[in-house]
Amino acid sequence: MCGIVAYIGTKPAQPIILEGLKRLEYRGYDSAGIAVLSVPSGSKTGQVKVVKKAGRIANLEAELKNVAPAGLPGTLGMAHTRWATHGGVTDLNAHPHRDDKAGICVIHNGIIENYAALKTYLQEKGHRFISETDTEVLTMLIGELYEGDLEAAVQAALREVTGAYAICVMCENEPDTLVVARKGAPLMVGIGAGEYIVASDASAIIAHTTQAFPLDDYNVVKITRQGFRTSTTSNIAVNPKVMQLELDLEEIELGTYEHFMQKEIFEQPQSLRNTFRGRLQKDDGKVVLGGVSNFAKELVRAKRVILTGQGTALHAAMIGEYMLEDLAKVPAVAEYASEFRYRNPIIEDQTVVVAVSQSGETADTLAALTEAKERGALSLGVVNVVGSSIARETDAGVYLRVGPEIGVASTKAFTGQVAVLAMLTLFMARRRHMSTDACTRLIEDLESIPGKIERILEQDAAIKKVAERYCERENWLFLGRGYNYPTALEGALKLKEISYIHAEGMPAAEMKHGPIALINDGMPAVFIANRGRQYDKVMSNIAEVRARGGHVIAIATEGDKEIKKAAEDVIFIPDIAEQLSPMLTVIPMQLIAYHAAVLRGHDVDKPRNLAKSVTVE
Ligand code: M6R
Repeated sequence: MCGIVAYIGTKPAQPIILEGLKRLEYRGYDSAGIAVLSVPSGSKTGQVKVVKKAGRIANLEAELKNVAPAGLPGTLGMAHTRWATHGGVTDLNAHPHRDDKAGICVIHNGIIENYAALKTYLQEKGHRFISETDTEVLTMLIGELYEGDLEAAVQAALREVTGAYAICVMCENEPDTLVVARKGAPLMVGIGAGEYIVASDASAIIAHTTQAFPLDDYNVVKITRQGFRTSTTSNIAVNPKVMQLELDLEEIELGTYEHFMQKEIFEQPQSLRNTFRGRLQKDDGKVVLGGVSNFAKELVRAKRVILTGQGTALHAAMIGEYMLEDLAKVPAVAEYASEFRYRNPIIEDQTVVVAVSQSGETADTLAALTEAKERGALSLGVVNVVGSSIARETDAGVYLRVGPEIGVASTKAFTGQVAVLAMLTLFMARRRHMSTDACTRLIEDLESIPGKIERILEQDAAIKKVAERYCERENWLFLGRGYNYPTALEGALKLKEISYIHAEGMPAAEMKHGPIALINDGMPAVFIANRGRQYDKVMSNIAEVRARGGHVIAIATEGDKEIKKAAEDVIFIPDIAEQLSPMLTVIPMQLIAYHAAVLRGHDVDKPRNLAKSVTVE
């Protein structure tokens, strides 16, 4: 979603905020803009210059070269990448926006839900709008309420709005002030030496400082070059918790890879080693999860677990549902957060809700979590981004520790989420009924996963050939059963989101109930056919597709001789307990999707219309 960077200090703002903006490109956007405030010598007030363009940041840079070849002067500035919600992708709708009265300038991530009513009110007051955006309405409202104190005007305006926002505001009358605020969309303040950098996430801050604090909902921070003050929209003082950012600059750079998605696929052996580190105690048949240990009793007594998330996170949650019922013997269900929230769900006593999210900022998941908490559930987070909203809102949780995921298509977060849910399952199962031996065997299998993924990755060139053979086909099927039904959904999602090929994932058995009509000559059907309880049934489904002219790409277990006769293409994975197999079976599908998208000429890290973190409902 939209990316926000702002700077106040003593250095020229433009290069700092443009560089930060580039680090936020991965979030997904369709236009970009910048505003810098300069103070003419002898003047007490400043002048804001805004440059904004539809399209990539490169378009903005070209425009900047035209209008200000030496760069926009000034040491206070803000920059924004917009992901359109209200109004088309145009230069005028891009941020920053300005008011028509008080010299106010605003960038915003989120949606002002009551913008229509506010706009009518402001139009009646004589304001003239030039864009179609909700953000311009908020900007005019701040200007309307401005009486010489920017912080007070922002607080007053935010008391009038409903919806979600992360905003940065500056004002020509107050050239030493930047006001930022948040509700429902991420924003953090980086504290440097005599300078501050505000951004949607740490990746735009880390090059300048490792000291930062995230804003909580309804927080307003007034920042000057001398210091900052945090309050609520009702002007009650707040003490923010400053933390040490643990991000390493190298982790957010491409290195020798061509794309972040490729880098992150290949990072999975290492990212999973980090996920497991210190948490698996094979000899005792125990899993140690510090983040939830205070709630061990509640987890043992849990009568029901509801897992929730969106997209890839939901697919991981579905695997968690299967593991919890199968291994921990606790009733479990996985559900889209967006549906859970609005269907008036019944939350009985001793229900645990697990919110699964890479970013920890997905608005639907956050809203579902809030709903579940209000209805009395114990809430756990399975989250990657430390200090994110979901991580802070949940009662307890387990971090993925897979490092920053920049590629819009989620890969290492998926295997990290499944790994954490597997450990959570064993944590509960051992305390409920599972024997030490049974747990030890599964821990051994978990420990073997990074090495086994390395062996699958060695087949990259052969997997690329499969992608080459079929990448021109516009319709694909992904089929699996049991634990690998959610993995089939994930394979289809990967392919469609970056290659724009239509792909459907479903339980292999469901095919006969309708989708089989789609199969025509040469249609690629990816079958997850690893050894497991339903292997024979999957083999029958493969035969049904072959009989109708479909081309079968099978993901099978090493040593399976039958499969070679049954499928056109076979990608082998090492043997593993069926419950943990999704962490292996997904790897060939990630690689097929990656290569197909590159072969079709797409920018896999910036797929059209997509945002990395969806912070609006
Ligand atoms: O940050 P989250 O894990 O909460 O994000 C959830 C989905 O938006 C995300 O998984 C999305 O589906 C990805 N683009 C999938 O690759």
